Amino acid sequence: MADVVKAIIPAGGLGTRFLPFTKAVPKELLPILNKPAIQYIVEEGLASDISQFFVITSKGKSAIEDHFDPNVELELLLKERNQLDLISSLERIARAAQFCYIRQSEPLGLGHAIWSARHTIGKEYFGVFLPDDIIISKVPAMLQLLKIARQEKASVIAVQEVPIEQVSSYGVISIKKQLTPNLFQVSHVVEKPDQKESPSNLAIVGRYVLSNKIFASLEQIEADKKGELQLTDAISHMMHNNEKVFAFKIQGMRYDVGNPIGWIKAIIGCALQDPQCAPHITKLLEDRDLIESFTLNRSKIVEHSL
Ligand code: UTP
Repeated sequence: MADVVKAIIPAGGLGTRFLPFTKAVPKELLPILNKPAIQYIVEEGLASDISQFFVITSKGKSAIEDHFDPNVELELLLKERNQLDLISSLERIARAAQFCYIRQSEPLGLGHAIWSARHTIGKEYFGVFLPDDIIISKVPAMLQLLKIARQEKASVIAVQEVPIEQVSSYGVISIKKQLTPNLFQVSHVVEKPDQKESPSNLAIVGRYVLSNKIFASLEQIEADKKGELQLTDAISHMMHNNEKVFAFKIQGMRYDVGNPIGWIKAIIGCALQDPQCAPHITKLLEDRDLIESFTLNRSKIVEHSL
């Protein structure tokens, strides 16, 4: 299999779970500590040797482009102040990554967003990163998938076990064959199944390595009841046309930053791994008085400054 250097980042969705915040600001720019969520995604891509990012955008998402574009005035100012290190992570990205933005004129689903980038992908396999899923792991999540894709010379999707009550929020795989404790060949995938009818509790999370055959499948499947093209339907279609698809249980901590609670968990999780923040957050989480005072117990006066 040729090297996988391209990835699609679909960021054209409406972000309704985060309204009203997402009315004017893309949720992909929500900060996790001092970095926007999408920067974690691009850094994971670069750490997996992916260097070309095709970002699917829509109305109101142009701030994503501004974030990764160079800002000459800001750079000059920071240089004068000897503070260039404040944006060194962005400079590293600018040196290593190329970005191309593709506008999705209507939110017609994840499948449609991927299909919008069909002209940018040749015959090669490519990565897909859903920017809602931030995965913190020793080995970058995409690199874990790429290793399997090279080994099996086939498409691979990331999965994680979820409690059975939650399967109806995910795409879920049906297992054809288990090859190792973490690797499965997939027979089909079901979008948001009922708990009773779910083929497993292995839920698809936001990383894929896909064959370019997915584009032909996306053209042949029908839109769902909401008028959206589902990527899971296209993956099933591709498998019925004799393309093998594997699923790998990704090793790492995943946060769904597309909803407020998941976002808060991601901030706490990342802060606990940051040597400067960790002592403050640990203290805060262990301090019952402080937590009570946050829940508006006005009888206690507690110092909140860290
Ligand atoms: P979701 O349906 O989970 O996210 O799409 P959403 O639509 O952005 O947010 P909610 O559910 O309304 O809160 C999964 C991914 O697919 C992208 C989204 O941006 C997200 O990264 N997507 C979805 C598109 O790019 N275009 C679409 O038409 C739909």
